[in-house]
Amino acid sequence: MGPFISPSILSADFNNLAKEIQVINSSSADFIHLDVMDGVFVPNISFGFPIIEHVNKVATKPLDVHLMIIEPVRYVVPLVEVGAHIITVHYEACKDIERTVRHIKKQGVKAGVCINPNTPVSVLQDFITEPDVVMLMAVEPGVGGQVLIESTYAKVRELKSMIEKYNPVCMIEVDGGVNYDTGEKLFEAGADILASGSFVFKSENPADTIDRLKSTCMNG
Ligand code: DX5
Ligand code: ZN
Repeated sequence: MGPFISPSILSADFNNLAKEIQVINSSSADFIHLDVMDGVFVPNISFGFPIIEHVNKVATKPLDVHLMIIEPVRYVVPLVEVGAHIITVHYEACKDIERTVRHIKKQGVKAGVCINPNTPVSVLQDFITEPDVVMLMAVEPGVGGQVLIESTYAKVRELKSMIEKYNPVCMIEVDGGVNYDTGEKLFEAGADILASGSFVFKSENPADTIDRLKSTCMNG
């Protein structure tokens, strides 16, 4: 199974957003990754509801919403209303991560939990049976175009053995620094979903890059 590709529109051309989404529609991408930032949990502010709603109108792929915001539980219901399919929250940003995950699942969408590069996989142990997706940040959250932190591969392997034991249907997503080389290694280590921003959108032919990213990992 997989790899599933989730292109992050953070690196897309926002002057031509509908066109960029149509390119993703025409590709073999499996999701569209949306990075919401609040300027508090991470220094940057990205975009919010009006953009997500707009993307949802054009997109034919399910929306994979990555919330880099504090107390994201407040926004779960309105995000479902604008078309979120996966809602991923940061472990570091939630007062009660278990309640947040349950609340997301109650709305009938997939719940994801993300951990930062410096957060160990072991923090997930207490509630690993709950999430549909666990996402590992391979870079510090907040900006696109960074280089993957090497220790991510070991974290993917550690997470893989944890979910095989306690929640085998849970998917592993990795976000940040994904390219053909790192993507292949992440997939080998056990990742199911690869979020990729700059590598896809800064390339000459994003649809082709998505297709190649997928086939490189599969055949690697
Ligand atoms: C970073 C975001 C990522 C970002 C990935 O905080 O969560 O989704 O768009 O960008 P690249 O693929 O350029 O590292
Ligand atoms: Zn992201």
